[in-house]
Amino acid sequence: MLGLGSLSSVGVIATAKTKYQSDQIKLLDNPKRTFKVFGGITLRKHASARGILYGAAAREDLLVSNPELATSYAQQCGILVPEWELKWNILRPAPDKFDFTKADWLAKFAHTHGMLFRGHTLVWHEALPPWFNSTVNQQNAQKFLVEHITTVTKHYAGHMHSWDVVNEAIEPNDNRADGLKNTPWLQFLGPDYIDLAFRVAAQADPKALLVYNDYGLEYDNPKDEAKRTAVLKLLERLKSKGTPIHGLGIQSHLTGYETHFNPKKLRRFLADVASLGLKILITELDVVDQKLPAAFTVRDRIVAATYEDYLSVVLAEPAVIAVLTWGLSDRYTWHSTYAPRSDKAAVRPLPLDSQLKPKLAWNAMARAFDKAPRR
Ligand code: XIL
Repeated sequence: MLGLGSLSSVGVIATAKTKYQSDQIKLLDNPKRTFKVFGGITLRKHASARGILYGAAAREDLLVSNPELATSYAQQCGILVPEWELKWNILRPAPDKFDFTKADWLAKFAHTHGMLFRGHTLVWHEALPPWFNSTVNQQNAQKFLVEHITTVTKHYAGHMHSWDVVNEAIEPNDNRADGLKNTPWLQFLGPDYIDLAFRVAAQADPKALLVYNDYGLEYDNPKDEAKRTAVLKLLERLKSKGTPIHGLGIQSHLTGYETHFNPKKLRRFLADVASLGLKILITELDVVDQKLPAAFTVRDRIVAATYEDYLSVVLAEPAVIAVLTWGLSDRYTWHSTYAPRSDKAAVRPLPLDSQLKPKLAWNAMARAFDKAPRR
């Protein structure tokens, strides 16, 4: 039983730890960084001036119900990716049915505003429809996979900049020699499901850039290092067997208070991927601000520094051709659900605030685009 004395010391330790953490976080903040930007142009233009595509993930329901948000997308984005609408759980209401209504609305919106359109994602173990587990099995999995990829890819053939063909298929903690995640697709079809997915997509839309997409590749820690190694090995295997893969998507869900960021190691990884002849896309960029101070001035400055420091490194690699944020405005971000703050304050991970005004993160991205080598 802890005595009062020890209880108070536990309290002291906890306070000291919190204070240490907040001191550490304050060290992340540099009030001298003003993130000055010139030109008064949009992110789309800052990026395209360097031959880079900038865009964001969007949701049909949100653009329909927020016309002013739709206007911000039309102004800021040169490429659009559906956040939900091209996933199995939306596209596949039943085993024998496809519903493209919502995705088609976003494709039309992109076309209307002169944006490119990218697809996310043909093969994933999440966002599966309720009927999936009770219907798909070892015997019919290949039929379902080939039919899904063929039907969906053909539906947009010729109009799709790129597809995330396979999403999040690597998990070193699943202890497989090949580093693959033990997903239903792997269980039903074996490791070659990845090669199969790319070949079927390439047959259905020979014009689209076919991408493998994953997360947890960004930081200097043992987990990310192991994942970078496993992803690189997967890409090398696929290229050596002639799989029609053209790019790596790095999701880039960053953390504002992460101090283990090693530009040299990240640059080396990007160069190794590029040396395989692959393009690189930053596909789901945002910055978690959970443990950052509540004050907008400090929080926004640290988030902006995270954006600028990361993009300055990745954009130095000429194979990086596109940057998409996972949303555009703090008004709607998946982090409200997936990485909420303990103080219940609204999270601020994206370039525009909830009133659609550019934040320092917007400036940071513009500055990183301006400094990037021209493609
Ligand atoms: C997320 C969406 O943003 C959420 O709204 C949804 O509830 C779950 O999926 N990596 C991915 C994306 O590849 O598809 C995920 O999107 C975020 C993590």
